[in-house]
Amino acid sequence: MLRWRRAGDCFRPVGGRGSRRLQDFFIDQKIPQTLRAAWPILATAHHIVWVAGLRPDERFVPGPTTRHTLRVTFYQHQAAQQLASQAGREGTMHNDIERILLHQDEITQRIVELGTQIARDYSAEDDLLLVGVLKGCMMFMVNLAIAIDLPLAMDFIAISSYGQSTESSGVVRLIKDLDTDITGRHVLIVEDIIDSGLTLDYLRSQLLRRNPASLRICALLNKPERRQADVQVDFIGFDIPNEFVVGYGLDYAERYRNLPYIGVLKPDVYTRTT
Ligand code: IMP
Ligand code: MG
Repeated sequence: MLRWRRAGDCFRPVGGRGSRRLQDFFIDQKIPQTLRAAWPILATAHHIVWVAGLRPDERFVPGPTTRHTLRVTFYQHQAAQQLASQAGREGTMHNDIERILLHQDEITQRIVELGTQIARDYSAEDDLLLVGVLKGCMMFMVNLAIAIDLPLAMDFIAISSYGQSTESSGVVRLIKDLDTDITGRHVLIVEDIIDSGLTLDYLRSQLLRRNPASLRICALLNKPERRQADVQVDFIGFDIPNEFVVGYGLDYAERYRNLPYIGVLKPDVYTRTT
């Protein structure tokens, strides 16, 4: 099976001197703390077979009496490589990330699925209008629109939510309205994340007053635990735990939107005084 590390993991790395604690092995190999918890490990019920990309256990190396071998390839995510190479270097965005929640290729793959689903649910005659909620929707909107194989138009709306804090104030303010008259149009709101639901609840009621033919919601991320307003989200990319996340359009104090993955910041980032 493929699994993450477990407390007390030991193995016998090939070329080493007997049994070693996995923890110590990671340190020897200079694997940054941030990557250790999610490092793929191939194991049987009782033994580690291979610490992916690093070293197999000597008991599982093919020898003269081996009858069958299994070839397993490990492709390290580009984002993980970035994290590893930047770890410890001051002033890089990656160095502020404690943990990656979603890698770029998982995100883009899921967006293609969402786009396919949306293209099935609407028809060309619907003349779909995507309404992106700035600025968090940016990366998502681009990739989603490309994944929807239907004629469509795009417009944007901007509303303020958190300011510099990571908690929703519940106070929502319209900063930029749509350019399009949505009366009689099939509208799909494209949002980065739904957290308390207050922002989308407000936006939904505002747009419904303009009498669109239909109004649905597509959010890349959903934090179900945090919901305060009862909004129906029609298309969801990923449910995530109740943690503040950045990257792929999502910001903290306007930074980190250009990270290619979605991750959790190190706690000390919030207490910096710059
Ligand atoms: P809600 O009103 O609580 O649902 O918050 C919605 C808005 O808050 C989203 O459109 C985001 O801009 C922002 N937001 C909520 N959670 C996060 C997060 O974890 N990271 C970054 N922005 C977030
Ligand atoms: Mg937003």
